[in-house]
Amino acid sequence: MSEFREDGAAAVEWVASYLERVGELPVLAQVKPGELSAQLPAVAPEQPEPFSAVLRDLDEVLLPAVTHWQSPRFFSYFAVTSSEPAILAELLAAALNQVALVWRASPASTELELRVADWVRQLLGLPDGWHGHIEDTASTSTLAALIAARHVTGRNVVVCSEHAHSSVEKDARMLGMELRKVPVDEALRMRVGGYDLDDVACVVATVGTTSFASVDPVRELAERAHAVGAWLHVDAAYAGSSWICEEERWSADGVELADSLVVNPHKWMLVPTDCSLVWTVRPDEWREAFTLTPEYLRTDDEAFSLADYGPPLGRRFRSLKLWAVLRCYGAEGLRAIQREHIRLAELFAGWIEESDDWELIAPQHLSLVVFRRVGSDEENERILERVNASGEIFINHTKLDGRYVLRLAIGNARTTEDDVRRAWDVLNREAER
Ligand SMILES: Cc1ncc(COP(=O)(O)O)c(C=O)c1O
Repeated sequence: MSEFREDGAAAVEWVASYLERVGELPVLAQVKPGELSAQLPAVAPEQPEPFSAVLRDLDEVLLPAVTHWQSPRFFSYFAVTSSEPAILAELLAAALNQVALVWRASPASTELELRVADWVRQLLGLPDGWHGHIEDTASTSTLAALIAARHVTGRNVVVCSEHAHSSVEKDARMLGMELRKVPVDEALRMRVGGYDLDDVACVVATVGTTSFASVDPVRELAERAHAVGAWLHVDAAYAGSSWICEEERWSADGVELADSLVVNPHKWMLVPTDCSLVWTVRPDEWREAFTLTPEYLRTDDEAFSLADYGPPLGRRFRSLKLWAVLRCYGAEGLRAIQREHIRLAELFAGWIEESDDWELIAPQHLSLVVFRRVGSDEENERILERVNASGEIFINHTKLDGRYVLRLAIGNARTTEDDVRRAWDVLNREAER
């Protein structure tokens, strides 16, 4: 145990100093594919090594191959934060090693999960009575929603926008369901009419698309879906967290009509991956799709089991980190961080708009800016390569109507106005080189 205390102190010290210096490290890992593999022994050690050897190799071998999601200048995909209370809660969760197969296998994990899901439901302004729990990712949450929708409707077709996240397509494919993609309007919103829904099990509406943060017309889609007995699932994996701020609730319009909803606290609520909240307004039918209790798990207590609500049996104590974040930041603390991210994104979008050399590509929503250099696709590709190779910032690209465009997503709690100015300077410098 004394070794554990020493190693533990060293590990926490490692984390603290990493978080202090992460802004100095190249954001995108500057290694080639296979470079790390070449340094890793091909076979596991026969003899035990001290934990200090693990920490040493973390620094010397692994760190160069780490892309620093914790960097304040990580602006790619959807930028995220693993906050200090959540890091510590992950340690505690591993120590307790709860495997919530059934209620008695972990009453704490089961009941805390339900309670924090309900706390977040209230914070986001969602209706009373929704049943929420935690899955690993939005991909799994949406998979579960499609399974429930198929169970309830007895149909096999999924409909979503052409800009829906690829997880919808992957989930449908894994389930052997047919996917139909619907085009978007000029505001990149899923069209409501012009297609048939008669044989559809599930319509998936996205609030905050991955490429553009555009918002589908949930209310109209829900009304159309329900008119033909289809299920309406809302993917608000990124944008849903912003409903904690009253002024952002415009994008929640119609969500109260959804049959299910996914929001990822691991995207914009300071919780490390993995933590995906999924709610349903039809818990009994949802449960019917999943419940299956083998003899060895049967108990006399009538207690609630989370395994009845999704694909996995064993479940990690994920609610602990969400609980820690909600308590240590408070709703006000979370709102302040999100509002600052949105302000910074608006600031950056303003610089783009004022410049003759850059153009905004999509309406700016939340903490995402989609833009490009006035010029060719090749020029924009080269700019992206050069800014990322600099290690100073990390951004990514997407395509709109075949055009290559750049995305700057703000989502790290450590990002300041100076970091966003630096991104602007690096982009201009590399574009002019
Ligand atoms: C809108 C949206 N839905 C779903 C996902 C998939 O998330 P996960 O990695 O939790 O499966 C993403 C990922 O960025 C997303 O942006």
